[in-house]
Formats: sequence, C-alpha cells, structure tokens
Amino acid sequence: MDCFALRARNDNEITMSELEKIVQDLKQTLQYHQQRGIEFLPKGRPSMKPEKDAKKIKTLEEIRAEIGDCTRCRLCKGRTHIVFGVGNPNAKLMFVGEGPGRDEDMQGEPFVGRAGQLLNKIIEAMGMKRSDVFINNIVMCRPPENRAPQPDEAEKCIPFLHQRIAFIKPKVIVCLGSVAFQFLLKTEKKISQSRGEWFDYEGIKVMPTYHPAFLLRNPDAKKPVWEDMKKVMEVLKSV
Ligand code: URA
Repeated sequence: MDCFALRARNDNEITMSELEKIVQDLKQTLQYHQQRGIEFLPKGRPSMKPEKDAKKIKTLEEIRAEIGDCTRCRLCKGRTHIVFGVGNPNAKLMFVGEGPGRDEDMQGEPFVGRAGQLLNKIIEAMGMKRSDVFINNIVMCRPPENRAPQPDEAEKCIPFLHQRIAFIKPKVIVCLGSVAFQFLLKTEKKISQSRGEWFDYEGIKVMPTYHPAFLLRNPDAKKPVWEDMKKVMEVLKSV
C-alpha cells in the first residue's frame, strides 16, 4: 500500500476511481457526438459568461457585419455577391432555399431568377407579397455549376441562418427542396417522403416542400406544393 492511501484525502484531490469514471463518461460523450457525425467541438473551457450574454440574439445588421467579406469556405472563390437574405425582419413566414444561382449571385438577392419568379407566384397565391416574408438559403455563396452545397460548406454558413431565424422568429419555415430540409433539420429523410408533414426546428413549425426549380421541370408537382402551402396558410391564420 503506498503512502497516499494512508492519509485522508485533501479537498483538491480526486480518487483514481473518480477520475476513471470521468474519463469513461467523456469517452461515452465523444462516441455519442461521433455517431451523430459531429467532428468538431469548441476549444477550451465553456464560457463563464452569464446565460443572457451567451444567448444574445444578434440583429440582422449585426449578423451581416459578422459575416463580413467571408472566406470561411471555398465558395467565396467563385462568388460575386454574398446573398444574405431579403424580406421582412418581422416575417411570420420564412423560406429557406439551397443556395444562390447565377442570377442571385449577380444581384446579391435570393430567388430572383426563374425559380424565384415561381416562388413569387406561390407567395402571391398565398395572399402575401414577397416583402411580407423573409427569403434566404442554406449557403450564401453560389456553388460552382449550381451544384448542391457540400456538408463542410453548409456547416460554415448555417450558423448564420440559425442566427437569422433566432432574430426573425418566424412562425413557420418552409424548406424549399431536400438540401434546405436535410441541412436545417439535420436529417437524411427524403423530401418526397417528408413534404407535407410538419417538422420542428427550435419550436418553430417547419414544412418541407419541393423546390421551385423542381416545379419548373416537373409541373405536376405544383399540386402537392399547393397542398403544403395551404397547410402553412392555415397555421399562419391562427397566429
Ligand atoms: N435556388 C435556391 O435554392 N436559392 C436561390 O436563391 C435561387 C435559386
């Protein structure tokens, strides 16, 4: 038996078995995050700031300022404009698309091309104007050849979408297409099997539906989208 075991424990000491338990718990926590595909965790000790400060909701101007002339991912290389989002900062309804296309990149505004014109028609059919809602995307810079954003690109950009949602606090979010749906809700569910169903993002109702660009190629899909939008209108009427 060594001499450490013979004396009483000091307040600033820990037993080997307590330490072993902490290491086991830590291992389990890391495995839990890894199984969910989380690769990065914040460095250092958790902030000791009061909860109120840690959760401070930024205004749209503050969010835009934080984004700056962003070079957080490779999409910055091909962009003309960062497409932040547009619309009513008090919107009850938010649309989330995939990422800017050519027209959006040129003009710095989301959904201004052909898909955007169709989205405008959908909004008007719902009895609203484009300026009543807020429109933004998963990524703010145009992916080359209009490919889908890659997970590491989305991962860099999506915190700013989360911040916009936290500031605007819409009653309903419509995810346009599978990219918006899968990245916002961190799901691998298919849009074809999920559209028309309600989901939840931080207490906000989320309706996935088909992307307007898909509707341009598949006009038959307009009918289910309209069914989905009727469900959205019903909820908006009651809030
Ligand atoms: N498609 C999108 O997903 N977003 C846009 O802004 C334009 C087209």
